[in-house]
Amino acid sequence: MATKKRVAIVTGGNKGIGLAIVRGLCKQFDGDVYLTARNEELGKGAVEQMKQEGLTANFFRLDIRNEGHIEDLKAHLMDKYGGLDVLINNAAIAYKRASTVPFPTQAKDTIETNFTATLRICEILFPILRPNARVVHISSRVGVMAFNKTSDKIKNCFKNVATTDDLKTLINDFLKSAEEGTHTEKGWPAMAYGVSKLGVCCLTGIQQREMDNDDRQGILINSMCPGFVNTDMSSHKGFLTPDEGADTALYCALLPEKTEVPKGNFVVAREVNPDVLTIKHALEDYKELLLPLSRVLEWEKPYHSLSLVSSITFVFALIWYAQPSFLTTIALLGILFTCIDFMGPIVLSFFFKNERWSSEKDESYEQICQRIANAKRHLQIFFTCIQQMKKKNPTVYLCVTLVICCVVAWIGNLIDNLFLTYLIVLIGALVPGLRKHGMLQKFTGFCASQVASILEKARNRKKKQ
Ligand SMILES: NC(=O)c1ccc[n+]([C@@H]2O[C@H](COP(=O)([O-])OP(=O)(O)OC[C@H]3O[C@@H](n4cnc5c(N)ncnc54)[C@H](OP(=O)(O)O)[C@@H]3O)[C@@H](O)[C@H]2O)c1
Repeated sequence: MATKKRVAIVTGGNKGIGLAIVRGLCKQFDGDVYLTARNEELGKGAVEQMKQEGLTANFFRLDIRNEGHIEDLKAHLMDKYGGLDVLINNAAIAYKRASTVPFPTQAKDTIETNFTATLRICEILFPILRPNARVVHISSRVGVMAFNKTSDKIKNCFKNVATTDDLKTLINDFLKSAEEGTHTEKGWPAMAYGVSKLGVCCLTGIQQREMDNDDRQGILINSMCPGFVNTDMSSHKGFLTPDEGADTALYCALLPEKTEVPKGNFVVAREVNPDVLTIKHALEDYKELLLPLSRVLEWEKPYHSLSLVSSITFVFALIWYAQPSFLTTIALLGILFTCIDFMGPIVLSFFFKNERWSSEKDESYEQICQRIANAKRHLQIFFTCIQQMKKKNPTVYLCVTLVICCVVAWIGNLIDNLFLTYLIVLIGALVPGLRKHGMLQKFTGFCASQVASILEKARNRKKKQ
């Protein structure tokens, strides 16, 4: 007879990130956890491993490509639990770069496992999801990479796809073109894994929209990227541990009731940040330049800080020596940026071929874009706070803005314009390095403790009075 106990399912749970998700759920999920695997021996072995760690997981045999297995699982869940509360679609395959398997076979195998089988599981198990259930598709940033490499026409198709049937047709077009060997000329990238994960990301939004019209309330469907993780799939080159890779999946699986965000999103490092995708797209032409630049800005080598200071000082010394007027300086900067904008992508594409862009490089590039997006978000939060202050507390708002403007005017009057610009540029260029090496945090921590102690003293004095 069915119990009211909650239940979670993880596909491909016998190793890697799937096993780490099972481990996390056993520790944090309030209900039964099922480790499923296509290989019974490996699956039971993993359950035994959990037991040795003091954790209890149940085993169910599930090859996600086998419809009969999924139906058996559904029947078992209905019989024992009367529904399903958490579904983690983790199982997937990826051919190695050096694989000699012909591309059409790779494409068929990868799409059938990562996209079609994942979709089939959803079609079979979604009807038994209970209200407030959580569905997490383990996707990948490689899906975003694949999207960036498709033609504008295919990009538009992905942006406008409205139903799962439309999406199936689109993905089938990739499969058909791969079979015919015409995928590149039709605007598809030669990335079977990437297209399969792009399909999964796109599926997430469609499924959430469909679920929003369902009678069952509060069901959240998200996809996520675990990062570059040390597993068999990455040939153990990833720099995150499986437990670290599982973190965002667990976060999505355990979102509390009434959560509004993330919902139908692609989540990276627990964050939904569509800005990252926009920034990534905007800086695409300069990505090869951004990687070494970010290493210098973060002082990867001890001499980087010195070279930054000396090159900025040299440029400002030239300006000081030539003493151009304000208008001339603006015009010269305009010429410089136009030349870089025009020539940069051409020169970079000549030296750096697209085929040599690896997933490791993409991971670093994504982190840079993430940092830019975070900085943008902090600025937005700052301006939102100021706007809220204006509405809620107009007097404080007036005083704060007037004080800030007066201080800025005083500094401007005190220091020569060029020297001030030099200081601002220098500090701006040194911030990433100071941050990376913990100096900025120490400095802000020191300032915060000083302000706190001044406020504390003031409060104590007031109490004594
Ligand atoms: N590792 C990374 O850096 C990385 C980065 C981004 C995204 N991801 C995603 O994270 C997820 C887990 O990857 P991982 O690195 O942990 O890979 P992994 O170590 O290769 O594990 C993949 C798991 O999926 C299972 N699987 C494959 N085909 C299956 C099928 N037809 N039915 C049932 N299970 C099947 C495998 O079972 P067998 O042991 O029987 O083969 C294995 O348990 C995948 O969705 C992957 O695309 C990984």
